[in-house]
Amino acid sequence: MNSSENLFSKFLQSKSIFKNREALTISFSPENIPHREKQINDLGRILAPALKGGRPSNVFLYGRTGTGKTLISNFVGSELEKISENNGQTIKVLYVNCKMKRTADTEYRLMAYLSKMLGKVVPFTGLPTDQIYKAFFETLDEKKQTVILIIDEIDALVEKTGDEILYNLTRINQDLKNSKVSLIGITNSLGFIESLDPRIKSSLSEEELIFPPYNALQLQDILRGRASVAFIPGMLEPGVIEKCAALAAQEHGDARRALDLLRVAGELVERNTEQKVTVKHVDVAQEKIDIDRILETVKAQPRQSQAVLFSIIELAEKNKEIQTGEVYDNYQEICKKHGFKILTTRRVSDLIAELDLFGIINTKIISKGRYGRTRIISLGLSSSIIKKLKKLLYEIFL
Ligand SMILES: Nc1ncnc2c1ncn2[C@@H]1O[C@H](COP(=O)(O)OP(=O)(O)OP(=O)(O)O)[C@@H](O)[C@H]1O
Ligand SMILES: [Mg+2]
Repeated sequence: MNSSENLFSKFLQSKSIFKNREALTISFSPENIPHREKQINDLGRILAPALKGGRPSNVFLYGRTGTGKTLISNFVGSELEKISENNGQTIKVLYVNCKMKRTADTEYRLMAYLSKMLGKVVPFTGLPTDQIYKAFFETLDEKKQTVILIIDEIDALVEKTGDEILYNLTRINQDLKNSKVSLIGITNSLGFIESLDPRIKSSLSEEELIFPPYNALQLQDILRGRASVAFIPGMLEPGVIEKCAALAAQEHGDARRALDLLRVAGELVERNTEQKVTVKHVDVAQEKIDIDRILETVKAQPRQSQAVLFSIIELAEKNKEIQTGEVYDNYQEICKKHGFKILTTRRVSDLIAELDLFGIINTKIISKGRYGRTRIISLGLSSSIIKKLKKLLYEIFL
């Protein structure tokens, strides 16, 4: 046997524990959607007038991450399209995720994208903005139709392009002769809707649907449904589903997290050519997901923020609790060494607060009696994450 056969033979001989791994990913559309009957029915009721030629109210969906907003809006949207086809009506549901690069980075791009989805190819750059609006508008109004426009992660759109585009979209029906447009706005940023211009807010949220977090028992039902499609029967030890559900319930009832835990646990088993998924694998999966998330966050930070974190990590090797002043002194050294501009204590304080917000460090303010107050910083991470983080930062800085 040659060595490459050796290398892979164990893997080839072991049977996959997965029947359909895709069923645990975000792109999968599950047949059963437990614990969202109310939201499905409410959204159906709101959109139903489209079947009789009316314009459905605009609706705003909000709830924390992983509570099924994207899933339910797409599900109800596609059911509506199906029924309208049978009825000989034209209802089109257009979905856009505003976090997606290149589709909603600018007002122009979004209008070009929407036009394309309506079947009209427009240049992706070059036209003046009013022309692209005109192209979209004309395509929309070419025939009698109701267009439901799902604007997912709508807060990202406003962050990138401002709110003018929403204003224009909420006013569009005034000028349309043949078609009608309804908007479904989705966000997990609870403050977003309050921050909107009141005129836009009132027209966007003619109706509102709230997606509460799932509790552990609901997450178990969701996981069981997906696991039965994903795994070959008998591959999950008792307690695995419960553990994934319990951990995700702590993370504010996030179904995506629950599914990620189960998927990663399964992948660990497969990689190690083990037999079954156990609760231990779920623990390792949790740790792996946390590490990946933290490393990704740190990688995406600007150099200055990485330098502040580097300073904290160096100090944390000697002391469990660190004071802001020490962080700043060490940070200055790092900047000098690497030729970075040195930011003010104020800016560094902001960066420290940000790292806290990302969950990478912990800070607390303590009173030092008549010496005033100071901020104490600690690294609230497991030692294996700190090790990986150190490696990453050393690679960046050394
Ligand atoms: N009730 C449910 N039944 C089955 N799967 C579900 C259910 N709710 C959510 N999911 C699954 O959980 C994952 C997250 O759901 P979804 O993407 O809809 O969340 P979201 O509310 O849009 O989150 P975000 O605000 O982060 O975009 C998806 O894989 C989805 O299929
Ligand atoms: Mg979503």
